[in-house]
Amino acid sequence: MPTTVRSHAKINLGLGIGAPRADGFHGLATVYQTLALHDLVTVSARAASPTSIRITSNDRRVPSDSRNTAWKMVDMALASLGICAEVAIHIDKKLPIQGGLGAGSANAVAALIGLEAELAAFAAKNANWGAERLRIAAQVGSDVPLFLIGGAVLGLDRGQSVFPLPDLESTHCVVATPAVGVSTPQAFRDWDALCERSGLTQNASDAKLGELSRAYAASFTGVDAWSSSSGVFPHEKDLAGPQVSALVRTGIANDFEQVVFPQHPLLSEIKRTLAASGTPEAALHASLSGSGSALYGLYRDRRDAEAAFERLAAMGVPSLLTRTLPRPAYWREMLLQSGT
Ligand code: C5P
Repeated sequence: MPTTVRSHAKINLGLGIGAPRADGFHGLATVYQTLALHDLVTVSARAASPTSIRITSNDRRVPSDSRNTAWKMVDMALASLGICAEVAIHIDKKLPIQGGLGAGSANAVAALIGLEAELAAFAAKNANWGAERLRIAAQVGSDVPLFLIGGAVLGLDRGQSVFPLPDLESTHCVVATPAVGVSTPQAFRDWDALCERSGLTQNASDAKLGELSRAYAASFTGVDAWSSSSGVFPHEKDLAGPQVSALVRTGIANDFEQVVFPQHPLLSEIKRTLAASGTPEAALHASLSGSGSALYGLYRDRRDAEAAFERLAAMGVPSLLTRTLPRPAYWREMLLQSGT
């Protein structure tokens, strides 16, 4: 029987970018946070030689060949374990194909989790599989490994070096998905031009990112941890708690806004609309996610989130109401239907 897996989106709670590196990438310091919003990925697999991987989707924009991140992940995982299989992957796109939400990267991890459930041989084959799958995920893309952790995740190096953070309490979130395309490589090139103008050296950039990651980490200490061990996911709890507020107080910001907003003034206007600063319905935090064009706002309660949703609708900007998804819920809700 096929295995269906929820493939959750992410946002970036702060994203510091460094100067361009010799390897063509950029150092980053970010806190990734998974959301309840998700696509569905269904995998069926059986041992067969030679290996074949077939990808289908309800959305024609999803590539069905080796350009697809799910294809790459499954191909590399099978090769790493020396297993040959016939694999069919269906990607049911529910999330908008919008940069900044990591949807394609999450699809890759969901396909792997589905494959693992389908081929029990995985667990038996390799005791180091936990480390190996992180290595493969990092090769597929910089923001793939975070989905092997879920919840709040510190991302360093080029974003692929991931560390689980203590969970932030689940918080109401509005994700705006304007019909604006932002090219990530172009946004990085624009960032390079900005670094050049401002004279950001490699040393200064390393110092900036080091300081930022310490500030992120510090915001997770000294606050009574929300007890995930109770097993209670506070869906009904309406007040955003101390952890989100502590993180926001560190002054989290997304550096991509400096190069993306001047080119797309609409995105800056959407951020202001999400933020509603100075009003009783103000967001705890509003930001571009990744290089965009998705933006998000975090809210104290459901009423404030609904008000933001209405403000965006009045502007003609589509948006989605969701919640941030802590790690226990991320893993608990992931397997929708298991074939084994
Ligand atoms: O790792 P990923 O395939 O997602 O990266 C896509 C492109 O984004 C890279 O080729 C690179 O140009 C840019 N990038 C970067 N620095 C990062 C991550 C991505 O410059 N930390």
